[in-house]
This record gives sequence, C-alpha cells and structure tokens, in this order.
Amino acid sequence: MRTAVAQACANVALVKYWGKRDPRLNLPAVGSLSVTLADLTATARVAASDTDSPPVFTQDGRPVDGIAAAQMSSFLDEIGRRARFAGRLATAVEANFPVGAGLASSAAIYCAVASAAASVAGLRVSRGELSGIARVGSGSAARSVFGGFAEWSRGDRDDGSDSIARPLLEEHEWDLAVAVAIVSEARKEIASRDAMEHVARSSPLYRGWIDAQEEDLANARRAIAERDLDRLGEIAEENCLRMHATCLAARPPVLYFRTATVAAIEAVWELRRRGLSAYFTIDAGPQVKVLCRRESLATVAAALGAVPGVLRVVSTRPGPGVRMIEGEAPWR
Ligand code: DP6
Repeated sequence: MRTAVAQACANVALVKYWGKRDPRLNLPAVGSLSVTLADLTATARVAASDTDSPPVFTQDGRPVDGIAAAQMSSFLDEIGRRARFAGRLATAVEANFPVGAGLASSAAIYCAVASAAASVAGLRVSRGELSGIARVGSGSAARSVFGGFAEWSRGDRDDGSDSIARPLLEEHEWDLAVAVAIVSEARKEIASRDAMEHVARSSPLYRGWIDAQEEDLANARRAIAERDLDRLGEIAEENCLRMHATCLAARPPVLYFRTATVAAIEAVWELRRRGLSAYFTIDAGPQVKVLCRRESLATVAAALGAVPGVLRVVSTRPGPGVRMIEGEAPWR
C-alpha cells in the first residue's frame, strides 16, 4: 500500500483572510499575509485505502466524525479526482498543539494532508499550485506551504488558479520571534468558516474591512522587504483590530476575546511603553500571538505568562514550509 507522510507548520496572519468570494473553492474576498510558526506543527500520514469503509480521517489516534470528517473526505476525494487516482485516500493526522482553538490548526493540517495526499495520488505540481490545492481544504492552509513570510493572493479568476500563495521572505532571513499566549484550550464556539460568512452578511463594517485591505497588504509587504518590525507590527495590530471590530458589529456579534485576551493586549502595550518592540495579533479565537525581536522573546514571554488567565506561553520563531517525512515530494 502506498503511503506518504508530510509535516506542516501553522501560520499566523499579520494581514488577515476574512470573507470569501467563493466558499466552495475557499476563494478569499481579500489577499492576506502571514508568518509560519516553527513549533506548531501537524503531521499527516496519507494511505491509499483499498476499501470504501470509514474512517478516512483520524486525529491523534481517534476517528473524526461529523462535519470535520465530511470536509476532509471530500478534500481527499478532490485530490484523487485531480490526479485521476483510482483508489480512495485516507489520512491520520497528529497536531502538537490544541486543535480548533484559534491557532490555525486547519492551516497546518490541510497543508500537510494536501502534500501527503498529492504524493500518494501521484500529482506533480509547483509549490504555488500545491498551495492552491491546500486552499480548497482550508483557505489559510495555502500560506503554510511556504516557510517564513508568505502572501496569498485574492486572485480574480473563477477557477481559483490565481488565488495561490507565494513566499516573501524565508524563515532564516529575518531574526524575529513569536510568543503565543494560550488563553483557552477549548474548541471555539463558532468555526471561522461560519463566522466569516455570518460577518460578511450582517456586519455594516464589512465593506470598510474589504476596502482597507490592499493598503495594509502593500505596507506590510514593504515593511517585510525592509525588515521594519515596528511598521509591520503596527499594520498587524491595526488589521487584527479592524477584523475583530467587523466581527463585533455583526448581528448577532461575534466575540473571540476573553478577559485574558484583553489583559494580554494591555500587557503588550505596556511593553511598548517601556520601549520594547512587541506587537500582537489574534485570529478566530482567544489566543494572543506576539511578534518581537528574538532577543526580546524571553521578556515578552515572561510578561505574557504573568497575565492572569494565560495558561501557558509557547515561544517560537518563523518556521519552514511543508516538508515530506516519507514518500516523494509532489512538488517539482
Ligand atoms: C482569522 O482558513 O480557518 O485565521 O478557509 O473556511 O477553512 P476556511 O477558514 P480558515 O480561516 C482563517 C481565518 C483567520 C485569518 C487568517 O488566517 O488569515
């Protein structure tokens, strides 16, 4: 039986993907830009299964059911179809961090599964094309194909062939660090997929969110090229708060922050008042990710760890793109 194993890192968006122009292909309403995180990884083993019987998806050793299983199964089938692969594909996934809690687990998981499944099915694609395949599983997975800083384009085409990610700066090209303050390990109440749709439909601020994105992307791209942490951090904070403000204005509102999330934001601002370059961002969950220079990481992690309600802090740095652990890489 053919098998392949791939490992991908989660990524944190500094200019965020929020809203879709096509939910079936996960085509985004806006472009986005992220940094891949070295210590938050998902590993996927994909095998050609000779029977149609479930489970096609296990996570940390347990079969997954419900919507998550149906979503994974149709994703595997889609890769099989593209490769004109005769058998069915099944996957076993393991993540080394809490899943479904706003830590971009779907990005790491779908990116790893896309790579291992493409390998087993015999697809040969460019890395950019692979990011387009991963995107169909979960939008943010498109960016985890690349290490360091990556940008995923909105694209204009209906088939999504131009909505793929590209690398901006490799992980070793800028000495930054990220401290992740874990505030809750619980699964989020509303999946980002559903929240995005609800917010796009009901938030009066959604239009403004879309209109501001191009400028944030251009400024973030420039800040990365110039290795300007303060500029990049300011853009990331503004973009994050604009996304969450758009969510708060939805009817009914979508609130991802907990008390400790707000306290961690205040701790970051206090660090800045003391002259330290530290900037937060928050995705569809309560965790706070803080971008800083590598030499300030211990100070930032200690400050976050002292915030009441912060359970633990993961210290990490920009990480690599997806890699094969077993089997042939599907990219050329
Ligand atoms: C807030 O990629 O999880 O983290 O495409 O529906 O699977 P789907 O959504 P997903 O959304 C991530 C949203 C975000 C921002 C970001 O990662 O850019």
